[in-house]
Amino acid sequence: MAKNTRLESQKLFERARAVIPGGVPGIRAPENFVEDAYPIFLAGGSGAYVTDVDGNDYLDMLLGYGPMLLGHACQEVDHAANTRQQAGFCLNLPQPELVMLAERLAELHPCAEQSLFFKTGSDATSAAIRLARTHTGRDIVLRCGYHGWHDWCLEGDAGVPAAVTESVIEFGYNDPDQLRDLLLKYQGQVAGVILTPVGHDFDAQIEPPGAHYLRDVRALADEHETVLIFDEVRTGFRLAMGGAQELYGVIPDLTALGKAMSNGYPVSALVGRREIMEAARRTFISSTYFPNGLSMAAALATLEILAREPVLTQIAQVGQQLATGLQTVVDETGLPVTLSPYPQMPFLYFDRSLASDQDQRRDRFYGTLAQQGIFAHPRHHGFLSWRHGQAEIERFLEGVSNAARSALG
Ligand SMILES: Cc1ncc(COP(=O)(O)O)c(C=O)c1O
Repeated sequence: MAKNTRLESQKLFERARAVIPGGVPGIRAPENFVEDAYPIFLAGGSGAYVTDVDGNDYLDMLLGYGPMLLGHACQEVDHAANTRQQAGFCLNLPQPELVMLAERLAELHPCAEQSLFFKTGSDATSAAIRLARTHTGRDIVLRCGYHGWHDWCLEGDAGVPAAVTESVIEFGYNDPDQLRDLLLKYQGQVAGVILTPVGHDFDAQIEPPGAHYLRDVRALADEHETVLIFDEVRTGFRLAMGGAQELYGVIPDLTALGKAMSNGYPVSALVGRREIMEAARRTFISSTYFPNGLSMAAALATLEILAREPVLTQIAQVGQQLATGLQTVVDETGLPVTLSPYPQMPFLYFDRSLASDQDQRRDRFYGTLAQQGIFAHPRHHGFLSWRHGQAEIERFLEGVSNAARSALG
């Protein structure tokens, strides 16, 4: 039951500020939410709910930024991980799960002839760039979307030498002409083109690809004999088993996967065409932790559930029901937001072009949601899990109606 105090969060934050830069680094910093309305530390999660360190419960509409597709504390996945943990999992050599997971991905994923495994999405996208450069012997990378925190793709340039950023050029989503121009300008020099197949930038509404966009990108990459990489860290095992590439029928050369693949356990993958993946043998990609079987056992269990149960269909259906309900609230209240085009990733986005004072309205709206025990991000789209059902949809819609009144009042 929500108590609505944040005292323990604040005490921990005071302690954190003394020993951790900013207290809470990165995207989870309090200033990215609505200060004084959100908790700063969480204690745990179960199914579609999380609990903060003060004992307040929240309906979780963010799911740890996406991984918890099956809901928090999924017993079957945790059991598989525990079994590997008890047998030992940080060993001198890889465990059988390495081979099993690569074989499973080859069965399940449209572009996975071979796989390499890492810990984070940033690892997987960075490995994709390394392989594209090794394979082609070229340097230039064309990129679109968020690909993680590493030097080559940092948003902003603090701490990154100009020599690194000079070889990576950004292009706009859904703009094939710009990509064509860049490929002509750097003819014969482009190692790879990396993009999120769905446009999902921070602090923007999600944008689906235009009717021919992904096919145009594929054709341009082929014409210029450059490696096409889809960053499906967010969309993989979510929009469809085979991610956005299955949904839209365009298969890249390499794909970065993470998040939903393992229900919260740290493992990511780069999968792709054998010919390009084999370039890994001519460079060095390795880490003490990459071959750990624990997270791979969790990924195998997650993929087993996704193959056995109608998880993705259910999430899409529940999401569609939610989307219809949200549209009704928006129509009735006149809340100046746009809604996500993907039911699996709901988002009420306070587009600044729709009204003045949007930032204040947004903060009142999301602050009111948090106060009602609903954890949604003000500037990042949400996610739905297998554990979001009828009760959760009703709770969210009621919360949104109340928050809309508060935002407009
Ligand atoms: C599309 C995309 N690529 C890459 C990443 C980086 O993944 P990670 O945070 O696991 O390093 C993210 C993380 O949000 C992402 O959404």
